[in-house]
Amino acid sequence: MLETNSPCKITLNGQDYVLWQSASGEVSALNNVCPHMQAPLSNGWICEEWNTIICPFHAVEFDGSGRLLRNDEWSRVPLAEPLELIIDGDFIWTYGGFEPRLPIPDLHRKVASEYEFLGVTAQRSIQSDFLSSLMINYDHDHQNGTHREFFKVKSTRSTFLEKDGVYAKVSQVAEKDDYTSEEIEANPMLGAIPEVMNNFLEYVFPSTQFFCLNSPDVKTYQGHILYPETENMTKTFILLYAKFSNSELKSIMQDSLLNAASIVVQQDADCLESLYPRQKAKIHLPNEEIMFYAEELYKNWNHSLVV
Ligand code: FES
Ligand SMILES: [Fe+2]
Repeated sequence: MLETNSPCKITLNGQDYVLWQSASGEVSALNNVCPHMQAPLSNGWICEEWNTIICPFHAVEFDGSGRLLRNDEWSRVPLAEPLELIIDGDFIWTYGGFEPRLPIPDLHRKVASEYEFLGVTAQRSIQSDFLSSLMINYDHDHQNGTHREFFKVKSTRSTFLEKDGVYAKVSQVAEKDDYTSEEIEANPMLGAIPEVMNNFLEYVFPSTQFFCLNSPDVKTYQGHILYPETENMTKTFILLYAKFSNSELKSIMQDSLLNAASIVVQQDADCLESLYPRQKAKIHLPNEEIMFYAEELYKNWNHSLVV
């Protein structure tokens, strides 16, 4: 997602940062506010020779630790504010300046080493608070409404296979109606979904849900990543990994899989953005235990944060 020598702006916990990657793969991150006259550094450009970012307003130059470079000399102290990153294989993590409370998960690296990466999809900012956006990923009853036309689910039974702190594995048995040949032609991946799906999900609270679709033709590991941009905005994207039973299927299904993932997120986002303010539920559905587990983790995590 991070191109070479191209500044990339991210928003996390109400703060804007700029990230960039040098040709040799070194990744740097600074607070996006230039300490001179507060221009957004992400609108600037990268000096490849020094691996510095240059402010778009007066062309002042900073390295990844925030030091200023002027007349071939570095400032002794950082003037721009660096953001601490943890690089783990292809993944860039950060605690956003907070004291770490949870470890960096190793599941992502494991999936990346075992499956083929098909691409990033469904990148968007959802106008919804983090908890609501998180809970829809743990909500095993919403496919009957939110995704009814796409998945044609008749019934779902989800159960915990494993629950260990922030890690959980859930099995999902879902029965669905058949797709018409027109629907499959428009979206070839639908043809790979069996009538009774035996899927499972691996969760690492709070950032990640891997949805694993098991079919004889393809096994996907669809990583839904979430983080709070602001109090009312949640960023999401999907890292799609898969294993195909033969390589021909990959060329037929790759685009369709990426497209399907993006439709699902679009449907979730439309739903989240339409909700009225949360109240205590007066009705309960069969698979909500999984959602309450996430809500509980959120409450404990939130209370233990040092703000
Ligand atoms: S505002 Fe950045 S150099 Fe002036
Ligand atoms: Fe959904």
